[in-house]
Formats: sequence, C-alpha cells, structure tokens
Amino acid sequence: MSKIIHHSCNHPEILYKLKSEFILQVIHELRSPVAVIEGFHEMILKGITGKINTKTKKTLEKANHRIKNLLLIIDELIDHASINSSIIKIKKTDLEIIKILEDIKKKFRELTNKKKITININCRPNLKIISDKDLLIILLNNIISNAIIYSSEKSTITVKAYHRGPYLNIVINDQGIGISKEEKNKIFEEFYRTRRARKIEKDGTGLGLSIVKQAVSILKGSIKINSKVNKGTQVHVTLPFKKCSKTRYKNY
Ligand SMILES: Nc1ncnc2c1ncn2[C@@H]1O[C@H](COP(=O)(O)OP(=O)(O)OP(=O)(O)O)[C@@H](O)[C@H]1O
Ligand SMILES: [Mg+2]
Repeated sequence: MSKIIHHSCNHPEILYKLKSEFILQVIHELRSPVAVIEGFHEMILKGITGKINTKTKKTLEKANHRIKNLLLIIDELIDHASINSSIIKIKKTDLEIIKILEDIKKKFRELTNKKKITININCRPNLKIISDKDLLIILLNNIISNAIIYSSEKSTITVKAYHRGPYLNIVINDQGIGISKEEKNKIFEEFYRTRRARKIEKDGTGLGLSIVKQAVSILKGSIKINSKVNKGTQVHVTLPFKKCSKTRYKNY
C-alpha cells in the first residue's frame, strides 16, 4: 500500500482516487449504525415496541427527521466517493426513460406535496437509452432535487426528454431562485453553495452538481445550465444513446 501511495504521489489523479476509495470505506462503516438507529426510531414511532405518549412521539419525530437528513448526506458522500474511485464498473442496460423519470417523481412526492410543487414529465413512452442505470438515476436525482429545493411553493417543474440524432436530451426547467452569472461558474465545484441556497436549505453538502458533472463525463455526455435570478433555471443534459465508458476509470 505504502508503495502504491508513494508511486501515486507523482500522479495526483491516482492519489485522489485512492483517497476517494478510503473515504468510501469509512463512510460505509458510518452508514450502518445510523440506518439501524433510524430503523429503531421507526419501530418505536409505529408503536411496535408499545404505546408512547404524544410528547415522546414529537421528540422522536424530530430526532428521526434529523437522522433521515444525516442518511441523505451520508448517501451523497458515498455517491461522491464511489464516482471518483475506480471500484465500481459501468453496467450498460436498456433503460426506459419515462419509467426512470416517473420513479424519481414518486421518490420526491413527499417533498413536492409539502411545497405544492407540480412536476410535469414530457417524454414518449418507448424512449430508451443504453446506459448505466445507477449513474443515470444519481444524475437525475441530483438535478431534480435541486429544482425542487430551490423553487418556491406552488411552482411548476417540467422535465422533458427527447431524441435528437444519436443523443438523448433531458431538459429540466424550474421557476425557482435562479443562479447569477458569477455563481454559475462555481456551482460544479465540490462543496460550493450559494448564500441564497444556504438560507433555503441548511443541510445541503454542495456535492450534488460535482457528482452530476462526473456522472455526465463518465456517460460521455454534456451538461449546460441557463438561469436567471428569481426567474428560474434550465438544466440541459445530452447523453449518447449507446456510447459510455466500459469502466469508470482506466486501471492504474
Ligand atoms: N435549480 C437550481 N436553482 C437555483 N440554484 C441552484 C439550482 N441547482 C443548483 N443550484 C445552486 O448550485 C449550488 C450547488 O448545487 P449542489 O447540488 O452541488 O449542492 P447543494 O444542492 O447545495 O447540496 P447537495 O450536495 O446536498 O445537493 C446550490 O447550493 C445552489 O446554490
Ligand atoms: Mg443539490
């Protein structure tokens, strides 16, 4: 190991991957006990372990909410570390885009219901792509969650997917807080969050878009963002229908 690290010191990219793999192992160890605590909370809240009074229930609900947020952060750290490591291989399968989009919409239903946000999906039923399902879901999850979090109540988000030449285009439009020109240059950096975003959601990590950028690059696609402050944001992702790397990284 020390030999590898010594050799890698002359190759920052390799060192970065080794660091990501180490972080990945540590975070995996952290996730299990947190998930177990969440499970126990759920059991108590459902009354499986016996009746609880209203005061205890409220306290536990608050604690459970924080633990759920912690799990989301841990999962994002896992995505970030694994996408930057060389451990996971790409698995190409036939993917039905509408199904993936509908599943993501369902996943965020609790949040969209709470904010009274409507998500309109515009995609023909048999539109397919050969790609890595996990990466595609990570990518769309992050973009769509941003659209929801940084939008105000009762607004509409549209997700349009269409075929053009050898590419699949996915365009996500929101009517949210928007991003200024200066901020736009920084939002793909790790841990960068705008001040206005921090006010709206204090628990974010600022890793989402750096994960998206990496996923798009592995899938040999491109991403473009157009935005106007207080008007909304458009994220345009282009992915080739067939081509993506066989592995996330070349072996070293
Ligand atoms: N749709 C959007 N509307 C407005 N601002 C956005 C949008 N998407 C991204 N941003 C800005 O880009 C920043 C970086 O986004 P990113 O997803 O990387 O991190 P985050 O949402 O702050 O936290 P997390 O890592 O938990 O997703 C956000 O903090 C926000 O300032
Ligand atoms: Mg985000």
